[in-house]
Amino acid sequence: MDIQRIAVIGAGIMGEGIAQIAAQAGYRVLHIDKDQTALDRATKAMDYSLERLCSKGAVGETKDLVLSRIQQQCSFDGLGDMDVVIEAVYERIDVKHALFKEIEPLLADHAILTTNTSTIPMETLAEALERPERLVGTHFFTPVQVNPLLELIKGSRTDEGLFEIACDLGERLGKHVLRVKKDVPGFIMNRLTGAMCIEAMHLIETGAASVEDIDEGLNIGYGYPLGPLGIADLAGLDVCLDAFTNIWTLDGKPDGKKPPEILKRMVAEGKLGRKTGEGFYKYDARGKMAGVAVVVE
Ligand SMILES: NC(=O)c1ccc[n+]([C@@H]2O[C@H](COP(=O)([O-])OP(=O)(O)OC[C@H]3O[C@@H](n4cnc5c(N)ncnc54)[C@H](O)[C@@H]3O)[C@@H](O)[C@H]2O)c1
Repeated sequence: MDIQRIAVIGAGIMGEGIAQIAAQAGYRVLHIDKDQTALDRATKAMDYSLERLCSKGAVGETKDLVLSRIQQQCSFDGLGDMDVVIEAVYERIDVKHALFKEIEPLLADHAILTTNTSTIPMETLAEALERPERLVGTHFFTPVQVNPLLELIKGSRTDEGLFEIACDLGERLGKHVLRVKKDVPGFIMNRLTGAMCIEAMHLIETGAASVEDIDEGLNIGYGYPLGPLGIADLAGLDVCLDAFTNIWTLDGKPDGKKPPEILKRMVAEGKLGRKTGEGFYKYDARGKMAGVAVVVE
């Protein structure tokens, strides 16, 4: 299949990054969100990111040329002309199912539908589809513009040929493709980092260590550029809560994987990490870390 046009649904931090790298790779991109404010925020973020990447020579075209390949809108008009549709909406099974039911009748016969879910198995998401064979998991990592990793997930009903086309697309987008062999909740990376983030939050709750010590320990001792609390802030604490809840629920609710109370509290208080300016750390207007926000006595 000759892929030319890609739709990205969702203009949060992931959708914005995916739309940008697809345009950088030369694809025409239809970027859709139900919320115009999210699209406006994404435009600003892409502008800022491309400004930096182009000035460093990391992108061999002008910012304006890359941005000219992206069309933004709040409706699903034109979805039927797309070769690939990548969804990056909220990490909730009900939201993704409702979206699939709404868009599937609009898709071209040959179109591949991919999901950027970070935890939900293809088997579960495909329950809402008439044609489950065209669903592939494309799990990008944040920040998508610079993080080279991409997990590709094949459900038991995913068409082998379409999966290979999705792997090829991942490489064309400049990613290192990691093929997940089994469609388990959280796949590979989020089972590992999720466990570490949950344990780090339990250590904070029990007062066993400070935010800085946990993250610095992993940085100094193991070479992690960001520790688990910094990673959680970067991903968004609301996104983490949904992701941890999915893994915990789909795994049969084991005690050790239960989403921590501190995480639930912070989300309820609107402290969502970098995107709201406060999580375990504080952030300035540019999203740069500006000190610790959660003090452990
Ligand atoms: N944040 C991360 O670090 C990260 C990493 C990997 C994967 N993911 C996954 O990517 C997906 C998106 O995450 P995010 O952090 O960008 O989320 P986000 O909350 O920042 O953004 C989600 C966007 O989807 C839009 N949306 C919701 N329902 C919609 C619908 N029906 N139609 C159109 N737009 C809709 C919302 O308006 C919002 O702008 C989730 O599945 C998440 O688990 C997130």
